[in-house]
Amino acid sequence: MRVLAIETSCDETSVAVIADGVALANVVSTQIKMHAEYGGVVPELATREHARNLLPVAREALRQAGLAAENIDAVAATQGPGLPNALLIGFHAGQSFALSIEKPFIGIHHHEAHLYSPWIRGTPPRAEFEAFEPNISLIVSGGHTLLVHVKGEQQHSVLGGTIDDAAGECFDKTAKLLGLPYPGGPHLDRLAAKGNPATHSFPRPMMHDAGDDFSYSGLKTSVRYFLQNHPEILNDAGKVADLCASVQAAIVEPLVHKLIRAAKRTGVKCVTASGGVTCNSGLRRALEEGCRRNRLQLRLAEPKLCTDNAAMIGILAERKLLRGAAETTVSAEIYPSWDL
Ligand code: KG4
Ligand code: ZN
Repeated sequence: MRVLAIETSCDETSVAVIADGVALANVVSTQIKMHAEYGGVVPELATREHARNLLPVAREALRQAGLAAENIDAVAATQGPGLPNALLIGFHAGQSFALSIEKPFIGIHHHEAHLYSPWIRGTPPRAEFEAFEPNISLIVSGGHTLLVHVKGEQQHSVLGGTIDDAAGECFDKTAKLLGLPYPGGPHLDRLAAKGNPATHSFPRPMMHDAGDDFSYSGLKTSVRYFLQNHPEILNDAGKVADLCASVQAAIVEPLVHKLIRAAKRTGVKCVTASGGVTCNSGLRRALEEGCRRNRLQLRLAEPKLCTDNAAMIGILAERKLLRGAAETTVSAEIYPSWDL
């Protein structure tokens, strides 16, 4: 089966072509530079950029895959959650394309696709569903922080999520306080690598409570007060590195602690992680150490598949269609629930 998949939920315009679990093409056009000027994603600009870029990105994906429109057997697009108008650009383009080639169309839940991205590997990216294990999955991005129990393929229940800011948002907001460019996560990560995480002890809210939720808004406030009291730190590269390392540890530790605790509680033998924050070197290292100590299998999405991409949408869509999923109707909601 050959699936053309579209992802336009936030600030990445992406089109992939999937054939039998392999991404023949996965073209991603990022809008990061445009939004950086405003210090965050501007929904209206994101929508316009998707409208401008979707056709060239789709043509490039078909070219890379060496296929023509009539060779496509099914079309998929991210249905939600995401920026409503941005989603509609990709969703309606996908429906129209499916109509024109008289092939089925399926809408895909963005988070469900993230859950399966750790099971895609290599060049070209290939789905490894044969290796699938029930797992606890962490989805950490600029918009989401979710802990999900994946009991079987396409069987999941959300255990917890952030009650305020997402982990990526916390990286970006604390980085902004340090004067780093948007998105600050990767910059903070780079500086943290040169610092000592034990220098400052920032709060880890909710880390030891009984639930599976997270809270990140307090950390940003602590960093703001800390900088108000110690503005001189910003003039010392070594002290900035120590501060970054300490902030990063305060973001990463609750994620790793709750992920591993949920795995032990539910008895799964595997944990996975995806979403932009999974690129963070401190998180990757802490997960590797935690899983080794607790004898858990760890599957991290490859960095290029951590961030939003259409390959994860298309691979899940193909899997669903092969398992007999019904076509998504025109009346489908753009904010699908987990029960869809
Ligand atoms: O998944 P993603 O590309 O987009 C959504 O938010 O949906 O994630 C972007 C987020 C941003 O907050 C960015 O700062 C963060 O992922 N991020 C990182 C790193 N790379 C990306 N955060 C910490 N360390 C990184 N290396
Ligand atoms: Zn995402």
